Amino acid sequence: MDLIRKSNLLVCLSLVCLSTCFLACTSGKKTYVIGVSQCSEDSWRMKLNDELRDATYLHDNVELHVVSADDNDKHQIRQINAFMKEDVDLLIVSPNQMNTVTPAIDRAYDSGIPVVLFDRKTDSGKYTAFVGADNEKIGRTIGEYIATRLGGKGTVVEIRGLEGSSPAIERHKGFVSAIRKYPGIRLLASESGTWLQQSGDSVAAKMFARGIVPDYVFGQNDRMAHGAWLAARRCGLEGRIRFVGIDALPGEGGGIELVRDGVLDASYIYPTRGDIVMQQALSILEGRPYERDLYMKAALVTKDNAETMLMQAEEMSHISDQLEKLHRRVDFFFTQYSHQKVYFLLCAIILLLVIVAFAAFNRMVMVRRRMERETAEAKMAFFTDMSHDLRTPLTLIADPVERILDDENLTGRQRHMLGIVRRNAALLLKLVGEILDLRKIQGGKMDLTVTEFNLADAVRLWVDDFKPLAASYEVTIVQKADGDLTVKADYYKVERICYNLISNSLKYNRKGGTVTVEAVRRGGSVEITVADTGVGIPKDVVSRVFDKFYRVRGGGSGTGVGLAVVKAFAELHGGRVSVKSVEGEGSEFKVELPQKVENAILSTPDTLSKHPEGREPDMQKQRKAWIEDVDDDIDGNRQGMSSSLTSGGLGYVAEPDGTSASRPLALVVDDNADVREYVAHLLGGEYDVRQAADGKEGLGMALKTVPDLIVCDVKMPVMDGLEMCRRVKAETATSHVPVILLTSNAQENQRAEGYDSGADAYITKPFSSKVLLSRVRNLLENRKRLKYVYASGADDEARDEADPDSRFMADFGRVVRERMSDSSLSVETISSVLGLSRVQMYRKVKQLTGQSPVEIIRVTRLKKAERLLKTTQMTVSEISYDVGFSSPSYFSKCFKDYFGVQPGEMRETY
Ligand code: FRU
Repeated sequence: MDLIRKSNLLVCLSLVCLSTCFLACTSGKKTYVIGVSQCSEDSWRMKLNDELRDATYLHDNVELHVVSADDNDKHQIRQINAFMKEDVDLLIVSPNQMNTVTPAIDRAYDSGIPVVLFDRKTDSGKYTAFVGADNEKIGRTIGEYIATRLGGKGTVVEIRGLEGSSPAIERHKGFVSAIRKYPGIRLLASESGTWLQQSGDSVAAKMFARGIVPDYVFGQNDRMAHGAWLAARRCGLEGRIRFVGIDALPGEGGGIELVRDGVLDASYIYPTRGDIVMQQALSILEGRPYERDLYMKAALVTKDNAETMLMQAEEMSHISDQLEKLHRRVDFFFTQYSHQKVYFLLCAIILLLVIVAFAAFNRMVMVRRRMERETAEAKMAFFTDMSHDLRTPLTLIADPVERILDDENLTGRQRHMLGIVRRNAALLLKLVGEILDLRKIQGGKMDLTVTEFNLADAVRLWVDDFKPLAASYEVTIVQKADGDLTVKADYYKVERICYNLISNSLKYNRKGGTVTVEAVRRGGSVEITVADTGVGIPKDVVSRVFDKFYRVRGGGSGTGVGLAVVKAFAELHGGRVSVKSVEGEGSEFKVELPQKVENAILSTPDTLSKHPEGREPDMQKQRKAWIEDVDDDIDGNRQGMSSSLTSGGLGYVAEPDGTSASRPLALVVDDNADVREYVAHLLGGEYDVRQAADGKEGLGMALKTVPDLIVCDVKMPVMDGLEMCRRVKAETATSHVPVILLTSNAQENQRAEGYDSGADAYITKPFSSKVLLSRVRNLLENRKRLKYVYASGADDEARDEADPDSRFMADFGRVVRERMSDSSLSVETISSVLGLSRVQMYRKVKQLTGQSPVEIIRVTRLKKAERLLKTTQMTVSEISYDVGFSSPSYFSKCFKDYFGVQPGEMRETY
């Protein structure tokens, strides 16, 4: 848990670091949002907008929002308000008219938004900066130019810009002040237009219509001057009047071109300079000093300089286009670069996460391995201690038993029981020995006593040792080891390796299977292979079979020490072990040993001479005992090897059809032969006993014989006790049979699981025989007490739906009552209606009611007859046929036997 928490923390920290990194890389300076409110949308404004946009290329932290009011005050007010709501950082405005738009601009200014006015002004001082040209001066210059061109004598008219817009007022002021100085110059008219060409046209046309035909027309911008020129042309005044405008825009149709082409006599450059406007705005935003009222310089354009100006403008426009292209490319690269930066960061994050996850996983694996190692070591230490403690008492059991067995006066039963004790003590001693051996190897305290011997001869000998045992299990054991296979190894340890492998292969083999033991030379090594045709090992656990205390699931009651010893002994020789297995087909264990063990001291020739042929008596005895133990061990684990087991050994055999009336029948199910026999022996005094070696066999036997009671182990191969109990309780034939579960699991949850399966009692091993017997008696007593209920209930409709036995008895009663008048009604008929065999029916009804089905049928008939006698006028013989008796005299006899009176008497007394 701690580890998981730590790795989570690590992942979080890395994420935070990376996110910070990411943000630092992606975000630069603050981005400014600048709102631009244009009063109109025309070529002069477009040029300005382009310049503003171009300027942002140099300042990548500016976001421009440009809108146009289309020469409409109300529009412009709305747009300014929207910019305020949007909370722009700065407002650039060219107010359409002074008095109407001023309040909106003032509000924005008052709300703290810096306001830059350009080209046109408001009539309040509430603005942060102004950028534009000196319109009064422009008007004055135009006035002086016209007066000079007229030689101080002539007439002029003025078409003003939009009424109320500051350039219109200022240009007029400057113009008038200039011509006033020339008394010979007469201003014939000054009228307002709207800055649009159309307005210049219509104002001029009206003047001409009124007979006003001046020498010069001054349009306050080129568009209006051009409109007036168009009107003059229409009125046939072309060539008589000269026209002057303001703006002098470059490009097609612009003022400069008009001057060059002689449409206009002159124009005045009215600078747009969006770059300067933007510079001013940024100085304000970034807190740099700036000039509050910035007036840009300009110049007059006449025919003399128009061409040059156009060329310059073209050049400028070309440069601007280039700049635009360049900017697009830079923009493209920059976008790519930003994407790459994001990809790079994402890759870095993923890589880091992978590294962190990998490190955490590695650590987890290491910790788990360490924990497993520690657990295994603790287990080993515990078992070693236990083994040390067990060895002496076990010897003190085994040896006295051995002596008692020598006594010739023992009865057969005593000898049998002592045999069980001897075998089990020896088994425990073998286990204890193997655990101590493993510990010794682990502590580096196990030595090799190396001798030189022919492995082929040895293997032959060892296989021969197992032949009788294999034959008794109907397994063929084959050896394939010939010729000279001289090795230098520890004879007894190699023997133990082979014994353990062979016994293991027998343990997991099937009836009719084969165990093949082979020894061959492979280069400088020898290979011993033990293969079987048994149950095989599941794929997912095959790699663990050599681990200490590891038991394959459902692998019976092995301890998981034998194969660990094989591995340890092989490795002690510098060899190695391996296993191949296919579940359901068999396994093949291989031990590879060096032909000559390195750095080993060869034992004296004296020791060598004692084996293999010259096996000393002591060793021989030990071997015999070992194989007997194996026999016993295997016996407890074999699956499907033994056919139906009975307690024949002890002489308590139940009747073959299971219907013995004298003694109740008990079924003992346990995979360990000794435990099974022992329990059978305990019960044998009072009950007939049958035995089964696993749940499947037990269930079959229970269904066949319907025992009065089942004692069953929980942990068994093929079908465990819990499953068997569940199935016994689910079958109609056996649902009533009490089941006692016998197990070494004392934990409460397992106990609950036992009861959940329907068990009636749960006894923990090691158990006391008294407890077991009294529990058995109690259960059978309880069953007897219930009998009364069923016996009387069979006749009426009492039926507890939740209780399968009550349901069964009610069904039984119903079938009997429905068919009672049929004198041929038999137990077989009822059995087949209720779906049971005759034996199952008989046993079940008898166990539930204490009466046989035939008795119940008879009593039911008699009770019905009694009712008919009391409630109808039917004759005795009519009644006897009605309730299913084939002869009235037999009916009267049965009636008298049951009620103590003749049927006729019963009617009289009533
Ligand atoms: C453009 C324009 C120019 C003129 C200026 C005055 O919208 O009409 O032609 O010089 O505005 O503000």
